[in-house]
Amino acid sequence: MAVRKILKMGDERLLRVAQPVTAFNTPELHDLLQDLDDTMLAANGAGLAAPQIGVDLQVVVFGSGEVNPRYPDAPVVPYTVLINPVLTPLGDEEDDGWEGCLSVPGMRGVVPRFKRLRYQGYDPLGNPIDRTVEGFHARVVQHECDHLIGVLYPMRVRDFSRFGYTEVLFPGLDDADD
Ligand code: NI
Repeated sequence: MAVRKILKMGDERLLRVAQPVTAFNTPELHDLLQDLDDTMLAANGAGLAAPQIGVDLQVVVFGSGEVNPRYPDAPVVPYTVLINPVLTPLGDEEDDGWEGCLSVPGMRGVVPRFKRLRYQGYDPLGNPIDRTVEGFHARVVQHECDHLIGVLYPMRVRDFSRFGYTEVLFPGLDDADD
């Protein structure tokens, strides 16, 4: 399909609470997923949410099944399409970790996230997804699903001494697409 323009922080469309998907396995949904895939791949993203391309629906894609050049030290997360997600943290324990976002190009920040969580939702055919995950996988899910409630990761940063430009914080990291 197409590589779509990614909205940047400051665009009000990133602040909306997204609408649930009501029909699965439709040509429109498959077209949207193809655009999300093409756009995420072109930008070397670890994930992408529909609101980031201006689509007001509860759809996220994340993972790749292989090492991502923007996050070379991160564990591999299986490629997943997650629709109408519900997240349930398991315990209060949090981890700090560096995040970036294609809607906040050229920057990284340390964000606290729940260490373990259960996520539920649907795949593109309407089949239920129900997983319990931890660590980087849990972080990616929390980051992407935040996009569905109008939250960008800088809004979660608590310590702004650990927020800044990627080229300064991580010289040499492959972030050229930011
Ligand atoms: Ni993001």
